[in-house]
Amino acid sequence: MQRVRKAVIPAAGLGTRLLPATKAMPKEMLPVVDKPVIQYIVEEAVAAGIEDILIVTGKGKRAIEDHFDRSVELEALLQDRGKRNELETIRAISEMANIHYIRQKEPLGLGHAVWCARRFIGDEPFAVLLGDVLIQSEEPALVQLLRRREVVGGAVIGIQPVAAADVHKYGIIDGVEMEPGLFRVRRMVEKPRPEEAPSNLAILGRYVLPPQVFTHLEHASAGALGEIQLTDALAQLAVESDVYGLTVQGRTFDIGSPLGWLEATVAMALADPALGDGVRRILYRELERTPGR
Ligand code: G1P
Repeated sequence: MQRVRKAVIPAAGLGTRLLPATKAMPKEMLPVVDKPVIQYIVEEAVAAGIEDILIVTGKGKRAIEDHFDRSVELEALLQDRGKRNELETIRAISEMANIHYIRQKEPLGLGHAVWCARRFIGDEPFAVLLGDVLIQSEEPALVQLLRRREVVGGAVIGIQPVAAADVHKYGIIDGVEMEPGLFRVRRMVEKPRPEEAPSNLAILGRYVLPPQVFTHLEHASAGALGEIQLTDALAQLAVESDVYGLTVQGRTFDIGSPLGWLEATVAMALADPALGDGVRRILYRELERTPGR
């Protein structure tokens, strides 16, 4: 089986739910504790053995490129001041992986953003990690998907159950459970109305896909929200080949919404050995101060 060496991180979304914070800064650069969200995602890809990453950016996303670039001036300054730890941290970011960029010229949807990666990917299997979905887990989510792909082959998509009231926010799968947590996908619907949802199993933003998906994206027309949907192309792929949904172990945060970002920040800060106790004290104090409702 061909090894997965390349990943695509779509990061072209406008971040409208986080305005004004995202007026001049991409949502993927919002910090969660001490790192921008996209660094967590690049780290997840690297932990899964990915060597080359294509970040699909758009207007106003320059800060992402600067973050993963070398900063010679900053390095020199830290060196002069003897700040060795900081220097190492900064250098490590620019040496993490081979990161490439392409701009999606129009916001035509996730399917179109992935389509922009077709030349970079060529004829090999690849991973997709959404730039605004952070997963806190013992084993990185992409590692979980790749491990399962080695056994079952085909396309493997990360899923998790969501509340019925939330199915309209996600791509939802209809599948047959082959073994606990592994579903063979029959159908997929992007952002269904609750009464149309085939299940409550939502696509969470991590995918391992074969290059054949580009054939379906090539002929894709606008779907939900008038955008070219990756889910629609995957639904077509599922008709002709094996597509699996794997329940990912871990907590998923949508950092594109204010509450999702806050929740990620609190959860990651509490889990941080250096900050956890301090954060817990702050939270208790704040809760005491603010009468509960
Ligand atoms: C995208 C996908 C959707 C998936 C979701 C996960 O939607 O289209 O299938 O469930 O990410 O966050 P978006 O959140 O970009 O609207």
